[in-house]
Amino acid sequence: MQLSAFHTTSVEKNGDAGEHFLDCTMVKFINVNKAFNAHCKPLININLEVSRGEVLVICGPSGAGKSTLLRTINRLERIDSGEIIIDGKNLYDHKTDLTALRAEIGMVFQQFNLYPHKTALENITLASRKVRGLSRTHADEKALHLLERVGLAHKSTSFPVHLSGGEQQRVAIARGLALDPKIMLFDEPTSSLDPELTSEVLDVILKLAEEGMTMMIVTHELGFAQKVAQRIVFMDSGKIMETGTTKKMLVNPEHARTREFINNILHI
Ligand SMILES: Nc1ncnc2c1ncn2[C@@H]1O[C@H](COP(=O)(O)OP(=O)(O)OP(=O)(O)O)[C@@H](O)[C@H]1O
Ligand SMILES: [Mg+2]
Repeated sequence: MQLSAFHTTSVEKNGDAGEHFLDCTMVKFINVNKAFNAHCKPLININLEVSRGEVLVICGPSGAGKSTLLRTINRLERIDSGEIIIDGKNLYDHKTDLTALRAEIGMVFQQFNLYPHKTALENITLASRKVRGLSRTHADEKALHLLERVGLAHKSTSFPVHLSGGEQQRVAIARGLALDPKIMLFDEPTSSLDPELTSEVLDVILKLAEEGMTMMIVTHELGFAQKVAQRIVFMDSGKIMETGTTKKMLVNPEHARTREFINNILHI
């Protein structure tokens, strides 16, 4: 279960000091700021740590900065100040190999963003052939295995237009897993799906959590958050307003604004 993975620490080598130390942090934001312009500051002094094997849910109103936060992790958005450390590597250190680092981060968006002219299998093999240089046979084998994991082995030759929204999103998740990422980021993965299709996608994410995958998930599915997440972060106007264990955030959040937001969602 995810809890055992969450508590697992790995011994890593500190190259500079030549010492071993215990590091269970996978993602760390230190005083991160980002502005699009003078009036729009989607990230204000963000400090956040995500542990190896942890599942963190991020919620908050529209425009709070949730997507921007996720997008800074693979440098789809640059930050203005602060530091982001992924698995011990500073995202902005000139020695960091950005392509290699990005390969370790799987991202799944609200809109599935599959290539319409490629089959489910081809959508998944593309990155492993290009980035990892796998042969077609090896990439196909791996993609089929991933399709099995998301319950879609029988749809390998289907084009996105012939897949339901839930199936397309599960292919997108399989694609996100193709490079064996250390962390998966989900930006409202079910918000464009109807409830029945939502549950099939959430089940796949739940399975990943049980396998110990580190995940940051922007979602307003708080029932799902309760099942999958150790902690919830509440963002508003570019700031992290409150972070706490899932139970505390859902039952007894400290801030009135968090309580109001969560109550509104729970009573929709
Ligand atoms: N490329 C951009 N250029 C200028 N402003 C942007 C850009 N991307 C986002 N913004 C603005 O930054 C703020 C934060 O946007 P972001 O997409 O991170 O919010 P969000 O919390 O994900 O909202 P939603 O729940 O609607 O997805 C918003 O005011 C948005 O309009
Ligand atoms: Mg968003």
